[in-house]
Amino acid sequence: MNDTIKNSPFFPGNNDLYQAWKEKKLTNYPKDLGDLVVEISNPFSLSKGERVQILSLCAKANMAIFHIPASQRTDDPHPLLAIMAQFGIQELDKNLGAGSDGLSALSPGGSAHAPFSEYIPYRKAAIGWHTDGYYHPADHQIRTLCLYCKRPSDIGGENSLWDHEMAYIRLRDDNPDFIPTLMDTTIMTIPARMENGQVARPERTGPVFSIHPRDGHLHMRYTHRTISIRWRDDDIARPAVKALRTLFESPSPQHFRGRLEAGWGLICHNVLHTREAFHDTSEHEKRILFRARYFDRLPDA
Ligand SMILES: [Fe+2]
Repeated sequence: MNDTIKNSPFFPGNNDLYQAWKEKKLTNYPKDLGDLVVEISNPFSLSKGERVQILSLCAKANMAIFHIPASQRTDDPHPLLAIMAQFGIQELDKNLGAGSDGLSALSPGGSAHAPFSEYIPYRKAAIGWHTDGYYHPADHQIRTLCLYCKRPSDIGGENSLWDHEMAYIRLRDDNPDFIPTLMDTTIMTIPARMENGQVARPERTGPVFSIHPRDGHLHMRYTHRTISIRWRDDDIARPAVKALRTLFESPSPQHFRGRLEAGWGLICHNVLHTREAFHDTSEHEKRILFRARYFDRLPDA
């Protein structure tokens, strides 16, 4: 364990650092989704003010919502990739479901990899609380998640968003002993993904919360699913996992809920999120949300 981890406010033993960080975090914390919105005039050439606003919101609340005018909503070049390129963020997760540009078209039938079309992001069903890419190796996690709506569904498709640092605060203040348990590298296992009888992605075991060894920021792996996940099952793990799961059963004032309409997008440090089920009345006018995921993080504000 290096000094960056040991000197992070998220490290279990650092109570003074944690209390100071928490006080700053909770001061002027955004009250609703409206506080997170940044109006962007030209996504291909961000103004200094727009750039600072996005980075400040992501530093404060780990997320920002942006809106671009109709005249800028082109498919190629893509406004989402253009915005992120201006932040110097580069390590795009070019997963199998994404197109050659690394963008995933989250739309029924939108996966570039046929077996993924059965997966929930490419279906119309609701998705419970999770962070993205919890099945990736511990040292190669999705640190930045972005969405951009080209066309909303006719009905439904709202997202709830919750800053994972706020979830961390709730747990640590409930019982500080939960934190080392949830940081233990054996706490959460995602079984292997099989395709045609072969292991397409091996089983992954790792922590819920981790501190990045290079910059000391907090990362969270989580899914509220009860299938395709195994929690460590012993007297220490059980109460911590129960407390974690219970967090999601009661609403928090910081659960921000809304629907991305055409030209709206989300830039976040892979915060906890959900998606409501949705419905399109026409087969030809389907909901299309583009998703870009990165292994690197936005620069600090
Ligand atoms: Fe997701």
